[in-house]
Amino acid sequence: MIDPVLARIDADLPAATDRLLELLRIKSISTDPAFKDDCDAAADWLVADLKSLGFDASKRATPGHPMVVAHADGEGPHVMFYGHYDVQPVDPLNLWDRDPFDPALEETAKGKVFRGRGSSDDKGQLMTFVEACRAWKAVHGTLPCKISLFFEGEEESGSPSLVPFMKENAAELTADVALICDTGLFGEETPTIITQLRGLLGEELTIHGPSKDLHSGMYGGAAMNPVRVLSRILGSLHDETGRITIPGFYDGVPELPGQVKGQWDALGFDHGEFLGAVGLSEPAGEDGRTALEMIWSRPTCEVNGIWGGYTGAGFKTVLPAEAHAKVSFRLVGTQDPDAIRASFRKMVEDMLPADCSVEWQGHGTGAASQMSIDHPAFEAARAALSREWPQPAAYVGCGGSIPIAGHFKEVLGMDAMLIGFGKDDDQIHSPNEKYDLSSFHKGIRSWARIIDELASL
Ligand code: BES
Ligand code: ZN
Repeated sequence: MIDPVLARIDADLPAATDRLLELLRIKSISTDPAFKDDCDAAADWLVADLKSLGFDASKRATPGHPMVVAHADGEGPHVMFYGHYDVQPVDPLNLWDRDPFDPALEETAKGKVFRGRGSSDDKGQLMTFVEACRAWKAVHGTLPCKISLFFEGEEESGSPSLVPFMKENAAELTADVALICDTGLFGEETPTIITQLRGLLGEELTIHGPSKDLHSGMYGGAAMNPVRVLSRILGSLHDETGRITIPGFYDGVPELPGQVKGQWDALGFDHGEFLGAVGLSEPAGEDGRTALEMIWSRPTCEVNGIWGGYTGAGFKTVLPAEAHAKVSFRLVGTQDPDAIRASFRKMVEDMLPADCSVEWQGHGTGAASQMSIDHPAFEAARAALSREWPQPAAYVGCGGSIPIAGHFKEVLGMDAMLIGFGKDDDQIHSPNEKYDLSSFHKGIRSWARIIDELASL
């Protein structure tokens, strides 16, 4: 059954490449309202493509960007596949070597790559599954099992419409198992299945001081400067050992079980190479923890942006009226996003001097998720992946966050299996994002094998 499907995938690769390039031309930046129509266009493109494959596909309105839901009948277990069609903003644009939305297949020293925004995160990955379905349909006229597809257009902006949509359409969106393609390989050619994913909490704060911007010669020394207040607060969030100082922050953070630590050590992660590739040499996290441990299993607090006062060309002796920062936390274990938000806000408010106040804007929360790998789909997928790749599939952690992974379990009671084919050097969220043609090609072949394997469960 599978061999002719794989042959079809190989033969159809040029056409699949053209289809992905077409999708990559659509500027579906979800966080910026200027690109609302483009998000809509990406959803339309997907609906049309899925219909051409015989899926019962529809675009579904939400208060934000639309969802795409599609179903195809089949025998055996019901599999739900999730991906996101929205992409990150492209700035700084001047660091791109080509127009981010005029993608191309480029020849590089390490082989051919798709270059363009969203090539890896997540349009290229999403299309690996669609192309696997296309090949199954072309060869056998049907799919090996019952398949539904669920594509979101708000993943990169915190998924505000996701949970309400899942609740309203729970029966339609529930299947035996969920598949998510939004993660990466380990190294160059070890396929992975994610067993734990960090959660995310975002906070935006504005410190207000004087009622207006002041001359720092006239008022400096007498008036409190909100940038100074903000800097002191942000500078106190970590202690000298790298630990986060927010009271209660580490409640629910588990120590890594020895067996998992053993599995991770066996992967032979090259810390020097990992940091060296981005111009660094020393891990900056908690004392005594490796970079891999910090990324996959420890919580973090990062300042993602900070501004205030005069930041233009030249110099201006201003004492600003306000200062701003965006701070995010990656969460693990059973850390409670709401409790951490409350504790962080209290800590900041307690540090405010007289005459200063703080204004908050919270961003989408999501707790960490832990996958239950005793579900038989995990070993089935591992066997399928190990047949496609030169290395057997590994169980690994993921430092990023994918809000839906937890919601599949909490809202719909489904286990989610995260498998992806991105590489560490794909530059997701950065200029010159790329996706290897080999990731795309072997990703399609991997899904064709996985759905074949799942069909027999
Ligand atoms: N594909 C990423 C998640 C990811 C990041 C996987 C790194 C593997 C390695 C996903 O699209 C993403 O960027 N998620 C955001 C979520 C947020 C904006 C709610 C993230 O992790 O910052
Ligand atoms: Zn992303």
